[in-house]
Amino acid sequence: MRIKQLLAASLVSIGFLSATPMLAQNSNTIMVQVNKPVAAVQPTMWGVFFEDINLGADGGIYAELVKNRSFEFYQPLMGWTVTQNKFNEGSVLVMNREEKNTANPRFIRITRDAATDTLGITNEGFRGMGIKKGLGYDFSVMYRQPVAGLKLHIELMSTAGKVIGATTITPAATTNDSWSKASASFNATDTSLKGKLNIWFEGTGKIDLDMVSLFPEDTWKKRPGGMRADMIQLLADMKPGFIRFPGGCIVEGHELSTRYQWKKTIGPVEERQLSINRWNNEFAHRPTPDYFQTFGLGFFEYFQLAEDIGAAPLPILNCGMACQFNTAEVIPIDQLDPYVQDALDLIEFANGDITTPWGKVRAGMGHPAPFNLKMMGVGNENWGPQYIERLKIFSKAIKARYPEIKLVNSSGTDPNGERFDYLNGELRKMNADIIDEHYYRRPEWFLANAARYDNYPRNASKIFAGEYAAQSDHTVSIENKNNTETAIAEAAFMTGLERNAAVVNMASYAPLFAHIDGWQWTPDLIWVNNVQSYGTPNYYVQKLYSLNKGTNVVPALMDGKSVSGQDSIYVSAVIDTKTGDVIVKLVNPSAKPVSKIISLNGAKKLSAAATLTLLKSKEDGEVNTFANPDAVSPVMSTIPVKANKIAAVLPAHSFSVYRIGIK
Ligand code: AHR
Repeated sequence: MRIKQLLAASLVSIGFLSATPMLAQNSNTIMVQVNKPVAAVQPTMWGVFFEDINLGADGGIYAELVKNRSFEFYQPLMGWTVTQNKFNEGSVLVMNREEKNTANPRFIRITRDAATDTLGITNEGFRGMGIKKGLGYDFSVMYRQPVAGLKLHIELMSTAGKVIGATTITPAATTNDSWSKASASFNATDTSLKGKLNIWFEGTGKIDLDMVSLFPEDTWKKRPGGMRADMIQLLADMKPGFIRFPGGCIVEGHELSTRYQWKKTIGPVEERQLSINRWNNEFAHRPTPDYFQTFGLGFFEYFQLAEDIGAAPLPILNCGMACQFNTAEVIPIDQLDPYVQDALDLIEFANGDITTPWGKVRAGMGHPAPFNLKMMGVGNENWGPQYIERLKIFSKAIKARYPEIKLVNSSGTDPNGERFDYLNGELRKMNADIIDEHYYRRPEWFLANAARYDNYPRNASKIFAGEYAAQSDHTVSIENKNNTETAIAEAAFMTGLERNAAVVNMASYAPLFAHIDGWQWTPDLIWVNNVQSYGTPNYYVQKLYSLNKGTNVVPALMDGKSVSGQDSIYVSAVIDTKTGDVIVKLVNPSAKPVSKIISLNGAKKLSAAATLTLLKSKEDGEVNTFANPDAVSPVMSTIPVKANKIAAVLPAHSFSVYRIGIK
């Protein structure tokens, strides 16, 4: 009651309330009742789903340019080539100190015993290295040598094989078998889309090398060893309400031994134990044998990223089950404790006081303040009674210690069918906080299901539309395109998410990133190569919803009904009590323009003009490309508001966002 009074007071203060009578309704008019909020829009409503798929982390947002920097790939010299003008047995030797260092056992030993030999190693990067003219690059390497003798020549090479940046390092002798770090910064003299890193050796001697690393200086927030700024900027521009990490199926692993374990992803990078990326060999039609997780981007960095972009963190943890499409391994119930403990410890790592064991670890990494974790997922796309059995144990333990943490639970892989029905029933019996629903479906499905949530129970579990994307062909087809047909279908569907914000509290498109030369899954929201990144039409749909989130849903009715496909259009509306605006979203997926009158009722006085942000396609199926990244992108204009009405023309294949100020 108190909340209702407060909301009414704020509506009055910004002019939403008036005695304007309801106008007559007809099918040419969309009636928006700005003074009748029906539900709050949660700050988390529109977020992003991050997974290390398609070279999303290593080779993607993690800006490290050297692939296999610590020689831990299953083939220890994958990504590297050795150059020598005279064969010399053992001049580059892969050494393994497994007994002493389980997290980072391998390193290489370079021996150069004849001053006339050419000896060098070259790293090919992740499908090449993106090098930018004039930009600074930070090279570093861990080394060990009892006697100084070798000089390292570091060179950036262009695609054509020209040196486009160089420096040298002469490492000093190290004592007692200990490792030192040598580093040097230098500028690139040219740009290259697919450059390489050469290291060649001068002098004679023997040196051990590990963690050979090269980062550009222009990382996000200029953090050394940080993230690729252009990619993160695209996320920040969306102002996402949350960021889910680290996936996706990567949480589950192909088998339990390769599941995502957050504790192995924090602390000094050279101590983070590499794991195979489950997308390495997932699809025979898109093999990626050089795909591993170095965890240079780990849980600390994910939390920091969330904080940087103002998004609520949503970590998802393994529930004791490996991917059920793969091995479907499960941990016996009597051995589940360490998994549950990982969840409890993660909450302490994120939120605990610095006097707590895990809070102290966080502080030691440079973040004494808590990360303000409020929710956590248990299991990704897990299903069956085995999931429910394990989930109940997790839920009991987490709620007993941290009742304030909301738990996200899996409803499986599909939005309907026996698996979904079983899980949905069980989760509702458990009074689940948030149910995660996934749908990878054709555009027609999105249009036909825009009213999916109209009849979901309001006072029960909330919904997280956790992974969705319209598939122009079919799920896991390599023909799927991020085109306007799929983007506009998603926009139409999202009117239903917004209208039902009373039950849908979160939504995110998936997957987020794809590297043009290293992807396994399409469609994806943002595409990158080594130097460029662009948003797809689907990205702009997500961004427009997020930037026009508002605070409260208001009715937008045609003939007294919500608009979900009548006359081929889809409509939702919100008010923003912070800015004092009413925002109306209209989607026309059809091939013909549609004209409607938007009648804004219940406001004392409206601004004389509305801002229209329009995303439209010249033809269905248009795409953005590296050559033309803004081919489909929002265009702004102003449209008159006369007598509280707007004459709206919705072009074919379009998404329109009208924002009108309340005076
Ligand atoms: O988004 C790609 C994959 O789709 C995710 O990893 C998984 O959760 C879903 O099956």
